[in-house]
Amino acid sequence: MVKIAPFGVESWLNKWEKSATYDISQSTIASLSMHDLLNLDGNNGQEFYAMLDKQKMNYGWIEGSPEFKQEVAKLYQHVDPENILQTNGTTGANILALYALINRGDHVIAEYPSYQQLYDIPKSLGAAVDYWHIHEEDNWYPDLNELKKLIRPDTKMICLNNANNPTGTILDRDFLEQVVEIARAVGAYVLVDEVYLPLDHPADFTPIVDLYDKGISTNSLSKTYSVPGVRIGWTATNAELADVFRKFRDYTMICGGVFNDQLATYVLRHRDQVLARNRQLVLGNLAIYKDWNDREDRASVVMPRSVSTSFPKLDVPVDIHTFCENLLKDTGVLLVPGDAFDTPEHVRLGYCAPEVTLREGLKRLSKYMHQYD
Ligand SMILES: Cc1ncc(COP(=O)(O)O)c(C=O)c1O
Repeated sequence: MVKIAPFGVESWLNKWEKSATYDISQSTIASLSMHDLLNLDGNNGQEFYAMLDKQKMNYGWIEGSPEFKQEVAKLYQHVDPENILQTNGTTGANILALYALINRGDHVIAEYPSYQQLYDIPKSLGAAVDYWHIHEEDNWYPDLNELKKLIRPDTKMICLNNANNPTGTILDRDFLEQVVEIARAVGAYVLVDEVYLPLDHPADFTPIVDLYDKGISTNSLSKTYSVPGVRIGWTATNAELADVFRKFRDYTMICGGVFNDQLATYVLRHRDQVLARNRQLVLGNLAIYKDWNDREDRASVVMPRSVSTSFPKLDVPVDIHTFCENLLKDTGVLLVPGDAFDTPEHVRLGYCAPEVTLREGLKRLSKYMHQYD
C-alpha cells in the first residue's frame, strides 16, 4: 500500500465545513454562482450557450481546447499555448508534475508549511524531503541562507507555494530570482503552486515559468477566479517538460470534460470582470479584517497583500484544535486550526467570505476568545 499522511486541511474541512454558519476558513474568494457567471457576458449567458451548443459531449480536447490554452498562455510572458496542459484543478496539476518527475530516492526541498501536496506526495513517491521553513518574524518568508544549506548537488526539485497557503505571503521577484539561481546551480526543477494571486498588486507576482526554464507553474480557476466548482487547472512549462507530462496525463485523466473546458474558457475570457469584482471584495474585506486585528488584542496577523488567505496567531489558553471545534459548536464560526499546518498557535482565516459572514464571524470569534479574559 502506498503510504501517505492524511491531508490535514482537507480532513478538517471535509468533516466540518457543511456544519458552519459563519465559514471564515476557506481560501477561495466568495464563489460565483452559475447565475453570476452567465451574466458576465451581459446577455444572459447567450455567449456561453452558443459556445456549448456546438459541442458534442464526447471526450473533447484532450489537453484543453485551443481557446482555453490561448487564454491561459496570456497569463504568462514566455509560455507557448502548446505547452499549457489542462488538469483537474491545481491539485491535478501538482500531482501530474510530481508523479512525472519524482522518483524513489530523489531529494526534494519543500517550503513548509504550505500546501500539503507539495511535501507529502514526494514523500509518498519515496523521495527524501527537506522542509524549508517559513518564519513569522520575516513576514512568513523562508530564509535563503537556509535554502543554501539544504540544497544538494542531487536536489531534484524545490516546491513552493506562491502566494502561500495558509499565510497569504507573496514571494517577490527578487527573492524568486535568488531561488532560481540556487536551483540552476544544481539543475533542480522549481515547482510553484500559484493558485493564489494578489488582487491589488499583480505586479508583485511573477510566475516561475517566466523566470526559469526548469520552472513549473501550476494554477486553476479555484481561488483568484472564484470558480472552484469547474475543477479546471493547468501546468505551464517549457516544451520539453510538457512532453514529459503528456505521457503521464494519458494515464491519469484523459481530459477535463467538454462542459468544464468551455466554462473555464468563458470565465478566462471575462477575467477582467471577475478580477474587478474580486478586487473590490478582497480590498473591502481586508479593510474590515485589518480594523478587527487592530482592535483585537487576542489576535495578531501578518496581513496578506490582497491574497485571499491569512494565518493569525490567537491568544487562547487551550489547544487550537479543541478551540476551533468548540468555536464551531458554540458559535457556528469555522476556522482551520493551525495543527493542520504544524503551527499550533495559529488558525487559517479566510477573510474573503461574503462581507456579512466575515463581519459576524469576526465578532463571534472575538467574543469567544474573550471568555478567557
Ligand atoms: C495552495 C493550493 N493549491 C491547490 C489547491 C486546490 O486547488 P484546486 O481547486 O485548483 O485543485 C488549494 C486549495 O485550497 C491550495 O490552497
